[in-house]
Amino acid sequence: MKPKNIVVFASGTGSNFKALHKATLKKEVPARITALISDNPDAGALKYARENDIRGLVLSPKDFDKPAAYEDELRKILEWESPNLIVLAGYLKKIPDEIVDLYKRRIVNIHPALLPKYGGKGWYGMRVHRAVIENREKESGCTVHYVTRTYDEGPVIAQVKVPVRVDDTAESLAARVLKQEHLLYPKVVRFLLSHN
Ligand code: GRF
Repeated sequence: MKPKNIVVFASGTGSNFKALHKATLKKEVPARITALISDNPDAGALKYARENDIRGLVLSPKDFDKPAAYEDELRKILEWESPNLIVLAGYLKKIPDEIVDLYKRRIVNIHPALLPKYGGKGWYGMRVHRAVIENREKESGCTVHYVTRTYDEGPVIAQVKVPVRVDDTAESLAARVLKQEHLLYPKVVRFLLSHN
């Protein structure tokens, strides 16, 4: 069987990327992460990629004259990497529509809330957890979904719930959710790769 390839996109720390990479090394996810693409040259994810023999690329729309030039470059990189699955792990830029259409049902994202709640443009990071606490929700969690043309609106693949405690801060809730993300994302990737 041909080995499966994954390309990860991340803008920040990349703890989900690291969890997925570790799962590939342990063969829990039978695939290889061939590249990490980031819009942020200072991303922890990029540093980790370079230290772990994963091709690390910085690609940001702002470095191109026209959106079409950026999309073209991204398309060429992906053609070369030929991923079975594209995994967004804390990636803050929007994936261009052209790429979303080309890789239909092959791009997934993880979101730190129970979508459709607290999703959409501008809903990311601590904002999400702060709002969950302010609204006195009883539970939160994380969602893995397919990426479509609209932020956080693609079909949900899996969710894990966590309780919101009365004494939670946004930080303590974020940590509880993130722990579940690191368990859920590799499992979902494994499942999807076995079906594609
Ligand atoms: C995670 O909470 C994920 O749900 C969201 O961005 C965060 C990324 O964290 N999309 P990390 O960079 O993987 O640590």
